[in-house]
Amino acid sequence: KAGAKQPEPEDVVLNVGHRGASGYAPEHTFTAYDLALRMGADYIEQDLQMTRDGVLVVLHDETLDRTARPTAESGPGDCTGLVREKTLAQIKTCDVGSWFNEAYPQYARPEYVGLRIPTLEEVFQRYRKSVNYYIETKSPEAAPGMEEELLRLMDEYGLTRPAAERWQVLIQSFSPASLQKVHALDPSLPLIQLFSGTETSETIRAKLDATAAYAVGIGPSKDDVDAELVGAAHARCLDVHPYTVNESAEMEGLIATGVDGMFTNFPDRLDAVLGES
Ligand code: G3P
Ligand code: CA
Repeated sequence: KAGAKQPEPEDVVLNVGHRGASGYAPEHTFTAYDLALRMGADYIEQDLQMTRDGVLVVLHDETLDRTARPTAESGPGDCTGLVREKTLAQIKTCDVGSWFNEAYPQYARPEYVGLRIPTLEEVFQRYRKSVNYYIETKSPEAAPGMEEELLRLMDEYGLTRPAAERWQVLIQSFSPASLQKVHALDPSLPLIQLFSGTETSETIRAKLDATAAYAVGIGPSKDDVDAELVGAAHARCLDVHPYTVNESAEMEGLIATGVDGMFTNFPDRLDAVLGES
């Protein structure tokens, strides 16, 4: 099932590999992305951070502390602290596989040791137009120019039109300002407004009219999703993609509410659930 699919948002439940197949392999590595695609993910997710020298890299956290470890190539402090205070050259010395082996010994593999942080450009170079990307602008207020650089790279790799025409790239953010900026730069791009777990079905519903002015969908926390929220979103032509759904029973419950997709660390589990439904 790996490869470019043509999502039909009205008919299918999209399987989004959250940070890749990050339940089984170190998040935001090519290994995790490849595995997600092999397991049936329709999309692979990227969280974006920007380096001091203005390069977009894929990493969830603003700092390197949780997932990066120094290697023999690293200088003092290269692999701790804020990504935006490091150059790409510093960040490229860090190992982002070893932490996973320590944290999840049941899934540990020797080949994870030494994996590096990819740039977004390297992700586009590896998969080109053969996959669908679900890209999040992270802490965009602290990284001015992140949106422009994302759109520049999408353009360079021929992904702008496929994004507009068949959602080959979905752009997501918790920041309405970041999405509104993308919308102003190119109103044809499909955008997903994320909502934090501090919201409820009711508070999200109150924001749907404003969201529908620029987005094609919402990404609520799974615990905030009920049939009322899905109905209210659909009434405004907004799709619903909850995060982060890792248990099969939860997947089935959300599908019953009418969601259009979901983020999961275990794309194989969602693939199995969808195969049965
Ligand atoms: O982007 C959907 C979900 O990933 C949001 O939470 O913290 O994992 O980026 P987070
Ligand atoms: Ca994310």
